Amino acid sequence: KTIYLKDYLPPAWLIPETELRVTLAPEDTQVEAILHCKRNPHSKEPNAAIVLNGERLQLERLALNGRDLAAREYGYAEGLLSIPVQADECTIASTVRINPAANLELDGLYRSAGNYCTQCEAEGFRKITFFPDRPDVMSVFTTTVIGEKTACPVLLANGNLREQGELAGGLHFATWHDPFPKPCYLFALVAGNLVALEDSFTTKSGRRVALAIYVEPRNAGKCGHAMAALKTAMRWDEERFGREYDLDNFKILAVDDFNMGAMENKGLNVFNSKYVLALPETATDTDFDSIGGVIAHEYFHNWTGNRVTCRDWFQLSLKEGLTVFRDQEFSSDIASRPVKRIRDVNLIRSIQFREDAGPMAHPVRPASFVEINNFYTATVYDKGAELIRMMHTLLGEAGFRRGMDLYFERHDGQAVTCDDFVAALADANHHDFTQFKRWYSQAGTPELFVTSRYDAAGGRLLLRLRQSCPATPDMAEKKPFVIPLALGLLARDGRELSFSHAGRKNPAFLTITQKEQDFVLDEVAEEPVLSLLRNFSAPVKLHFDQSDEELSLRLGYDRDPWGRWDAGQHLALKALMQGIEQFRQGHQNITLPDTLKHGMAALLDDERADAAFRAVSLVLPTENWIGQQMAPLDPEAVFWVRQRLRALLGQELRPAFLRHYEALGKAAHRPYVYTTAEAGRRALRNMCLDYLLCCAPEAPADADMLALGERQYREADNMTDGLAALSAVVNADRERGDALLQDFLAKWQTDPLVMDKWLSLQAACPLPGTLARVRALLRHPVFDLKNPNKVRALVASFCALNQRQFHARDGAGYEFLKAMVAKIDRFNPQIATRMAAPFTQWRRYDADRQQGMRAQLEELLQAEDISDDLKELLEKSLWEG
Ligand code: ARG
Ligand code: ZN
Repeated sequence: KTIYLKDYLPPAWLIPETELRVTLAPEDTQVEAILHCKRNPHSKEPNAAIVLNGERLQLERLALNGRDLAAREYGYAEGLLSIPVQADECTIASTVRINPAANLELDGLYRSAGNYCTQCEAEGFRKITFFPDRPDVMSVFTTTVIGEKTACPVLLANGNLREQGELAGGLHFATWHDPFPKPCYLFALVAGNLVALEDSFTTKSGRRVALAIYVEPRNAGKCGHAMAALKTAMRWDEERFGREYDLDNFKILAVDDFNMGAMENKGLNVFNSKYVLALPETATDTDFDSIGGVIAHEYFHNWTGNRVTCRDWFQLSLKEGLTVFRDQEFSSDIASRPVKRIRDVNLIRSIQFREDAGPMAHPVRPASFVEINNFYTATVYDKGAELIRMMHTLLGEAGFRRGMDLYFERHDGQAVTCDDFVAALADANHHDFTQFKRWYSQAGTPELFVTSRYDAAGGRLLLRLRQSCPATPDMAEKKPFVIPLALGLLARDGRELSFSHAGRKNPAFLTITQKEQDFVLDEVAEEPVLSLLRNFSAPVKLHFDQSDEELSLRLGYDRDPWGRWDAGQHLALKALMQGIEQFRQGHQNITLPDTLKHGMAALLDDERADAAFRAVSLVLPTENWIGQQMAPLDPEAVFWVRQRLRALLGQELRPAFLRHYEALGKAAHRPYVYTTAEAGRRALRNMCLDYLLCCAPEAPADADMLALGERQYREADNMTDGLAALSAVVNADRERGDALLQDFLAKWQTDPLVMDKWLSLQAACPLPGTLARVRALLRHPVFDLKNPNKVRALVASFCALNQRQFHARDGAGYEFLKAMVAKIDRFNPQIATRMAAPFTQWRRYDADRQQGMRAQLEELLQAEDISDDLKELLEKSLWEG
């Protein structure tokens, strides 16, 4: 059942227009569809039948040009309905029945909290009606929604409202018309008892757009931040990309049951409520940030995804990589650019690099897949965004904008490929991206090895570069990549040194194109300290030896904030790897290197840098990133040494942490306001608290510090400070943590999003006994296995965040995950397969753990009736190459 990019064929039939009439009932919804069909003049199969996808549909009536078809006049097998047609144009009418209440996959039309909503990307529309469910068939949809007036006062679909009115029997209807042809994956329908926060936005050219965010009545009043973010995003897209909104209204629905973050359906986005609802008391600064980012992301899809869409699902990164790049730029423009970059790079290194090195590795534009839902990955999204960012670097902002303008000019209203996108950038700038495009087709993380030599007499710096890329399951040999290497030189006193290259003064980057390549930098006045890969100019692993002194200098003075952060990470990583080596030889009295201690202390005190930057830079490398430097990976050693170094930093710098903690507390604005500056100060203060409460593994917490955390928990007037204190206490001391957890539960048990935090915090606690706790929580009234947010909060927090306990020697964590995956796969394969991800890394561990995980993978695979989603992951994970 593998599908290949090389097999792509244009659709034989097009559906310029589609009329839908949906009569809602929880268990028995009727969908009547009229498809106006036309042969595709570009089809390679002149006499082809019309083939429609359809799954979980009960077919009641099928008619061709108004005449009912008998069963022998069409074929229906394996989800494909095929109708032989002689003419070049025809009309197909179908009536099907579906059961939204039984839909626990949350794909197609389903119910959440008694309301109706849809999720059609990638292939959910075929669970609503018969249709060519592929993104290159674009249709103008007119949708009539019919529902009970009492149960469904609100009836929504894509586009502009054309008509509404009453019907007999307590029913009413609304007809929506979307004038923009779109693939069916962008279809949406919403109905229920909803209230809206309304607002409006006037576009640059004067179109007045009605904005509305629909929620359950109990959530009215929690949409203010999302609405403000939406308006900021709409303005930003006009200013930075010249893109205006195009319908009379823009609607958003928030639901508690949602497989992913959100969905960009044309004019009717559907969101996981986690990315809409926020009040200072219930949401953290991180939630406020991510709401802004996701609202912007989905809104930006209106141009990158909807107006210009994907030809096929291999091109997913065409819209996702580009839209992630756009939302990253948005967040960078409205808040702290360096902090946003650091967060994004952390995600690439921790998650995407690991994916790229594992059995599910795939290029940004995959060449084949079994289940497309398994390819909504960090590679397609985030590495995809890095590819766009590199092209932006190579062209510069003005050139990139020219390319984007040409892309929209050429392809508005079309379904296109990544090649089309790159061609627009290339043509607008007369730039050759032929070699660059290898980034789209070659998986794996390139490694860049750098050595340098300073020639004092000639004032020259010689750089020798070598690149290689490990084999991935799909490809053994990789050709060299184009790598923009941004760089700068520091004098020993921290000044930025000037230099020239090939006659150019201080170029921002060098462009590497070969496997081995030398560069000469001229007019270098003194032996410099190098700052390489500034701003993470390419998604590569850089191997460049720098001494602790050089790293400390960069941590203190690098003009590139990302470079400062990276130097700190590198310094810490060296200490961590040394500690891990000692730990594995049986030593537990691991000490804190002075360079790291002084570097961190200086950073903490550095009032030139803003608080948010200092806060992220004080975080030691993630366990994921440390783990990638180790073979075989010993998660206990990683956790143990990282925790020990954090505890030592907390102890040895206690006066400084306390001083900043107090000062930042005094400076805090009360009551809480969410601004970049205030959030930054809270982040730094909570970082101080975290260090102050951190105790070495197995060591008791300091009583005074515990009391400090408890006080902050009690006095907090907002979720950011309350949750930070709760988490610090929970991780430090079971008993005192439990008391606060009880209090928190009593306060917040009716708020599902807050309860997600409550579950997640307990599952991520590294103290012994956490698995038993997690198992007990499965039976807690606030938990619900059918709700993806709850599963992520409990199961993923334990299996993906809590590496120490998940990988416990006795294998109980593995047993737990297998049981969960097997159970969830029966009703929601997408979520089950995502939860199984930690198992894919099994080959990286020691023999016992390998054996433990592998046994679970095999057992899962042997079970009957597993989903195609899960099967693909299991088979790829076990494949012996
Ligand atoms: N297009 C959505 C977004 O990134 C994601 C939807 C993915 N859904 C899925 N079932 N794979 O904004
Ligand atoms: Zn997206």
